[in-house]
Amino acid sequence: MPGTGPGMTNPQRLKIMAQAQRTPVSASVPNDLEPFWLPFTPNRAFKQRPRLIAGAKDMHYIATDGRRVIDGSAGLWCTNAGHNRTPIVRAIQAQAEELDYAPAFQFSHAKAFELASRIAALAPGDLDHVFFCNSGSEAVDTALKIALAYHNVRGNASRVRLIGRERGYHGVGFGGIAVGGIVANRKQFGALMAGVDHLQHTYNRAEQAFSAGEPEWGAHLADDLDRLVALHDASTIAAVIVEPVACSTGVLPPPKGYLQRLRAICDKHGILLIFDEVITAYGRLGHAFAAERYGVIPDMITFAKGITSGAVPMGGVLVRNGVYDAFMKGPEQVIELFHGYTYSAHPLACAAGLATLDLYREENLFERAKKLEPVWAQAAMGLKGLPNVLDIRTIGLTVGIDLASKPDGVGKRGYEALDLGFFEHGVMFRAVGDTLAMSPPLIVSEAQIGELFDKLATIIKQVA
Ligand SMILES: Cc1ncc(COP(=O)(O)O)c(C=O)c1O
Repeated sequence: MPGTGPGMTNPQRLKIMAQAQRTPVSASVPNDLEPFWLPFTPNRAFKQRPRLIAGAKDMHYIATDGRRVIDGSAGLWCTNAGHNRTPIVRAIQAQAEELDYAPAFQFSHAKAFELASRIAALAPGDLDHVFFCNSGSEAVDTALKIALAYHNVRGNASRVRLIGRERGYHGVGFGGIAVGGIVANRKQFGALMAGVDHLQHTYNRAEQAFSAGEPEWGAHLADDLDRLVALHDASTIAAVIVEPVACSTGVLPPPKGYLQRLRAICDKHGILLIFDEVITAYGRLGHAFAAERYGVIPDMITFAKGITSGAVPMGGVLVRNGVYDAFMKGPEQVIELFHGYTYSAHPLACAAGLATLDLYREENLFERAKKLEPVWAQAAMGLKGLPNVLDIRTIGLTVGIDLASKPDGVGKRGYEALDLGFFEHGVMFRAVGDTLAMSPPLIVSEAQIGELFDKLATIIKQVA
């Protein structure tokens, strides 16, 4: 067979052999690892030893070699109802048979309205309108655009500034990385957007280390918004966007009283408040939305991930009545907001979303997460004292564990832990640099919580 000599990489050889023999390559083992550029992944390290998944059910992934891997991260913080849940699978199948696609502009379909009503009914206060999109990043960009346009339609066109927060993650659109505060996600991409500023982040290890739940210290950090108002003047600021819990940076719960104080300062200055709940919505903190947990009603909430339990891409923005109503003026045949996506409220996503919300309700999964929170926190804090553990933070069913970096490289210990977890211990979690994070599906049992933290303890010792 030509071209399969010793100079070739294994994947190239496999591809050529498969093509030459005209044998179908197994669906779960790729023929060639080269063409796919993986997102947020060290591609060369991954391709030397790929972590490949072939299947999933409930709390487990199945690796391509048939091993069961317990899912400590709900995929990417998204499979809140667990994997391959039959009602969601059936709903997607039935929808694909009935209506594959309906144009999102000027036309629609019944399930889009049904899902919007169900989401609005779950949301607190007068967050009664839903704009659909396909991801968290799109939800963030949509919310930022609505904020700018809201001030514009009300004649306050000078309100153009957007305020994010250091260490915030708001996806990867230009708006999201501009208001985001994770340096690595920003520094390669030029000048981003003009007119953006950032609140300081809320983490202080000396004051907050090893807090379960909201730390006592730090409410005053919300006053940083007053500093930015003094600098820029309120008349130039459109909106503030924060994650109620900054998850992607390593789980930073809000200090007690912080979000309430931020709301009050926004109100004082006529600034819209956006909660980015792409992770915190749909039960992660024991409520449909974090806004409910904190008794704070933001002007908009972004969501994604858990709305379909990860089964079909979907995102959206919940909008308060006053914001929506501001647009519903002028001639009725004129488009009120020049924004939208081909796949906004895609029928498959709507069907998956409705089935997912049913499952959350039938199995009381949000209440379940709330009940399990103390069990989870206690198990997590059991890792205190293990080698290199600098801090542990928990809230709802999430945890962030900071490990000291190895002297020869930031992120090395975390990556080793991730790899060992998958290949040797049959557990999946997130590694953000040297911070390990977990956020299991909300169906996790107490025994599985024990299993997750036992495995993590062994791995932390192994990477010491
Ligand atoms: C708070 C927050 N916003 C936005 C996003 C981006 O979501 P997506 O990856 O679906 O674009 C994420 C993803 O983790 C997130 O955690």
